[in-house]
Amino acid sequence: MPRIALLGCGGFIGSHFLDAFLTDPSWTIEGWDWTPAKIKQHLGHPAFTFHPGDLYTFPGLEDALAKADVVISLAAICNPSQYNVRGVDVIESNFIQPRLIADMCARRGKWLIQFSTSEVYGQTLSHWTGGGEAPASLYELDEETSPLLLGPVSAQRWSYACAKQLLERYVAALHREQGLAYTIIRPFNFLGTRMDFLPGRQGVALPREVEGLPRVLACFTGALLDRSPLTLVDGGHVRRTFLAVEEAVEALRLMLERPGMAKNKIFNLGHPGNEITIRGMAEMMREVAADVTGDESYLELPLVDVPALEFYGEGYADSDRRMPRIDKAANLLGWTPRRGLRGILRVVLEDAFQTHASRPIATVSLQE
Ligand SMILES: NC(=O)c1ccc[n+]([C@@H]2O[C@H](COP(=O)([O-])OP(=O)(O)OC[C@H]3O[C@@H](n4cnc5c(N)ncnc54)[C@H](O)[C@@H]3O)[C@@H](O)[C@H]2O)c1
Repeated sequence: MPRIALLGCGGFIGSHFLDAFLTDPSWTIEGWDWTPAKIKQHLGHPAFTFHPGDLYTFPGLEDALAKADVVISLAAICNPSQYNVRGVDVIESNFIQPRLIADMCARRGKWLIQFSTSEVYGQTLSHWTGGGEAPASLYELDEETSPLLLGPVSAQRWSYACAKQLLERYVAALHREQGLAYTIIRPFNFLGTRMDFLPGRQGVALPREVEGLPRVLACFTGALLDRSPLTLVDGGHVRRTFLAVEEAVEALRLMLERPGMAKNKIFNLGHPGNEITIRGMAEMMREVAADVTGDESYLELPLVDVPALEFYGEGYADSDRRMPRIDKAANLLGWTPRRGLRGILRVVLEDAFQTHASRPIATVSLQE
């Protein structure tokens, strides 16, 4: 029975991976995370072994990885609110530590699936040449040809992207020089339930002063539950694409089922059809909240502009537009994302209102 080592199994992507793979009797999974808070439902499953705590201090980690057929490395600090205030920790957890895992996989002949990020593309050519109105060739991002354009060192924000980029280069070098089998995944903004944490509403993986603010989906969800204004950094003008986390997990399944197609490659995973500005996403989330609660007053919640300097502090920068090309995943894996953004947000907000709001919701449909 194929055996998966899942590092960071208790996070957003890891928890959805367990949901999908523990219903399939063909896999056994050994997982590590600081906390099982999001995966309690899977503890005790006969095909799942969980190790709480810091995975890098786990005794015999390399021997444990050596027993696996594939190592999936998710563990990281990957929250924009942290990039410019905890640069040392961000670089440690996105390069220095996962580099040790890559070394172990190279030594033990294990296939490493390393999660990177779409942030490695940095500010993109369109950012410098006409913003969102630039030709598509300047913001469509291809794994093989697009440049990776990071800002200056003084913009600490790029600490995360730079650490992930160096990790990608290190993994590719281990492949060339030591025969490591690898797959690198560049996620373009996965969405789904259990993303980060809702401030003040549930326990967090790390102490609050360490974890900081959640990513944008959880920030907006928390604001809707609190009926407080939705905060738009610099007016929320940047555009992003969004992919249902379940469809990302489906791509992972296809990789595991077709290793010959997946090994020694880099894949963008995203949904080009789900592009929207962050302001547009805030507006859509107000509409979806009104729809799932039957309460039109959600449409009136204010959207408040806050300068990035005030929200994130010194050293923040952003990219105006990042659009994944996904031809490689489509051609090699037969993977095509289908779920629309509104339907994904509906699932997230139905779950949030059912779990956290005291008032009853009008309709409950988990279908798009
Ligand atoms: N979710 C996205 O849209 C997205 C976008 C870009 C990149 N990624 C990448 O995908 C990976 C997973 O992302 P996610 O959204 O699931 O993040 P997440 O923060 O929800 O999950 C990461 C998990 O790793 C755990 N972890 C970190 N360091 C650890 C350590 N030393 N020991 C034990 N556990 C540790 C955390 O507790 C957390 O549960 C990350 O590498 C991230 O950079 C995700």
